[in-house]
Amino acid sequence: METKIDFEALPTPSYVVDETLLRHNLEILKAVKDQTGCKILLAQKAFSMYHFYPLIAEYLDGTTASSVHEARLGFEEFGKETHVFAPAFKKEEMEALIPIVDHIVFNSPNQVNLYAEAVKNSGRPIHIGLRVNPELSTQDHALYDPASPFSRLGTTEANFDASQVGILDGLHFHTLCEQDSDALEATLEVFEEKFGKYLYDMKWVNFGGGHHITREGYDIAKLVKCVNHIKGKYDVQVYLEPGEAVALNAGFLVASVLETNFNQMNLAILDTSATCHMPDVLEMPYRPFIIGSGEAGEKVHTYRLGGQTCLAGDVIGDYSFDEPLQAGDRLIFTDMAIYSMVKNTTFNGIQLPAIAAHTVKEGTKVIKTFGYEVFKSRL
Ligand SMILES: Cc1ncc(COP(=O)(O)O)c(C=O)c1O
Repeated sequence: METKIDFEALPTPSYVVDETLLRHNLEILKAVKDQTGCKILLAQKAFSMYHFYPLIAEYLDGTTASSVHEARLGFEEFGKETHVFAPAFKKEEMEALIPIVDHIVFNSPNQVNLYAEAVKNSGRPIHIGLRVNPELSTQDHALYDPASPFSRLGTTEANFDASQVGILDGLHFHTLCEQDSDALEATLEVFEEKFGKYLYDMKWVNFGGGHHITREGYDIAKLVKCVNHIKGKYDVQVYLEPGEAVALNAGFLVASVLETNFNQMNLAILDTSATCHMPDVLEMPYRPFIIGSGEAGEKVHTYRLGGQTCLAGDVIGDYSFDEPLQAGDRLIFTDMAIYSMVKNTTFNGIQLPAIAAHTVKEGTKVIKTFGYEVFKSRL
């Protein structure tokens, strides 16, 4: 889809998210809800730009959080349902969560033993869930595979305590990452085999995130079939909690070329950084797309693009361009709304990108800039 963002009007570096692109994703998610009656939550770990929470709340049912701070942000800025999961909670975290959340998902029977009574006695109608681990790996990214051997995420069949079923309102699993619905279908088969018998006594099942629903070519019909199967067989409310799919391809990172150089190949130094502003480029790893660029060697001028930090590996990748790069040129990285601003660091004191929004009403507008105080206050 085209964007009407005025990239030239933005300072660099800056993230800019387009309302129209976001709405496009939300319409797709809404269609899944309409066909299944499932509820869809925003996983804030991927996208927490709360400027757009009122818009997202027009379509989705609430937020899910990985911490007290995320839960509080969802509660304050999004409203609707607030869910939280963490591998373990501290007592003081539980005390902070109880007044604001609607679902608490525990990671182990021991966590249920520790906190379920306090939750039940809180006077608030909080649902208690348990994250289970179907132990089926359907992907190759070890870093993002909660179903891998020795995983700390989710209770395995061997560790499941059937005597707790009466306490639990629902089960949660999360094993996917950027996957199609065939992976969900395979996961559900194992999940049902191991845990299906407990579902008849429960109110809901949460299929976690990692569903790449808004990616072109994703098999939505199969997702709908999966949700309707579980809902029909066990009479439960199904939840999905995608992060990526909500803001996929809805944002950009605008950067400037500061300097070009040559050391056996063309180099360019940018005012953005892989390690500070797009750490998944190094962690995943992946190669973000830059508008107007090609693969190395595809166009006439190939450059290795790097950041301002001291990290030798702060390299975004090798890209080719029709014209030689020059100081002052702007480069626009695509798909930069997700797992970007939420993962920023100020390593080396590097400037945090400004945050901008493009809306139909107001056009392209900077909504936040960050200076020295943000860096200093964290140290
Ligand atoms: C428990 C849980 N739910 C939801 C998500 C969101 O996943 P995604 O952004 O891939 O959809 C994650 C991601 O790690 C997760 O751990």
